[in-house]
Amino acid sequence: MEYRTLGKTGIRVSVLGFGAMRLPVTGQPHEVDEDATIDMLRYAIDQGVNYIDSAYVYHDGHSEIVIGKALQDGYRAKTYVATKCPVWMVDQTADFDRLLNEQLARLQTDHIDFYLLHCLQQGNWPRMQQMDVASWAERAQRDGRIGQFGFSFHDSFSVFQDIVDAYDWGFCQIQYNLVNENVQAGTAGLKYAAAKGLGVVIMEPLFGGTLANPPDAVRQLWEEAGYQPVPVALRWVWDRPEVSLVLSGMSTRAQVEQNIETAREAGVGRLTDGERAVIRRVQEKYEELSPIPCTKCGYCLPCPHGVDIPVNFELYNEATVFQGSSVVLCRNLYHGLPESQRAAACAACHTCEDRCPQKIEISRLMGEVGKHFA
Ligand SMILES: NC(=O)c1ccc[n+]([C@@H]2O[C@H](COP(=O)([O-])OP(=O)(O)OC[C@H]3O[C@@H](n4cnc5c(N)ncnc54)[C@H](OP(=O)(O)O)[C@@H]3O)[C@@H](O)[C@H]2O)c1
Repeated sequence: MEYRTLGKTGIRVSVLGFGAMRLPVTGQPHEVDEDATIDMLRYAIDQGVNYIDSAYVYHDGHSEIVIGKALQDGYRAKTYVATKCPVWMVDQTADFDRLLNEQLARLQTDHIDFYLLHCLQQGNWPRMQQMDVASWAERAQRDGRIGQFGFSFHDSFSVFQDIVDAYDWGFCQIQYNLVNENVQAGTAGLKYAAAKGLGVVIMEPLFGGTLANPPDAVRQLWEEAGYQPVPVALRWVWDRPEVSLVLSGMSTRAQVEQNIETAREAGVGRLTDGERAVIRRVQEKYEELSPIPCTKCGYCLPCPHGVDIPVNFELYNEATVFQGSSVVLCRNLYHGLPESQRAAACAACHTCEDRCPQKIEISRLMGEVGKHFA
């Protein structure tokens, strides 16, 4: 297993981290299959994985609880634990302490090595600042309950820059995979954060599993080239030197075994020419499958009414091509935008259309996007 230094924290982490959001269940999401999960987590740690990522809300709290059980018998000392504060459940500063103390109890530990504000975005970051979350985190660091302080992120690159610049974060967690080079923080955000010394933890390297089950047209490309999508998609992320660690959400022991094998073959500059070629074709095919040919050039902006046209098209394309959990995520991101930026705020003035190099019928499509996410 390769280990990389997680930015300015100086901490050495395995390139593969265990994302504990998609654990095996016996029924409902909170019914985590504890025996299977403990077996998977301990196997991963025995093979050199030293970073486990959870959150207050995963599996309705049972992700943290089962991790706490798995880390008995000496396993806690062999791995770093990361978990996240559900910022939308914080109404007053005392809530930070209440939630953190509950998480420590669930995890059966006296400290959390990496503590993140969960899903920071334009809509909740100002509130966190007003509550002086930084002073709270520094107190929790001084009393030893948390180690490194960071945030996870799903919003645009410009919002990402603002958040990175606003505080001396140790690390951040961003969505990144071969179809998201220019989505959310994207490659620009990855480089920006790394250049500022933040450790960069990657989530959704398989786009929540959708890259493992591609549409027929994409599957055919992988098959013709003779490659499996999962190992190549993971290797694509590890090829980036700015990436500190890749979290994989694994739901079976076989996936854990396969991804550990892949991690052993991973590294910067280790993608073959054949892999690079098929990745390019796959990326182009996903683009082709997107219903709105927006390239996010931004020529349409500024909209006189404030609508963020490229972001609305991006969310609509993603929700349409990838289906599954992307639909929920895109809907949430749409409703996380300020009302004036949403497609529904389009006044159909057509001002933008003359400026669009792709000649997209923006006003008409904004109506469809607005209805789609309504
Ligand atoms: N902070 C946030 O807002 C946030 C958001 C998302 C994720 N995260 C964290 O980041 C972690 C990683 O994200 P993710 O879970 O979305 O990762 P991902 O790797 O993009 O997707 C995980 C899914 O990919 C499939 N998969 C994994 N390995 C496979 C293999 N070898 N062969 C076939 N399919 C495979 C599984 O799907 P099936 O279960 O369908 O088999 C698995 O559930 C999460 O677990 C969580 O800890 C955080």
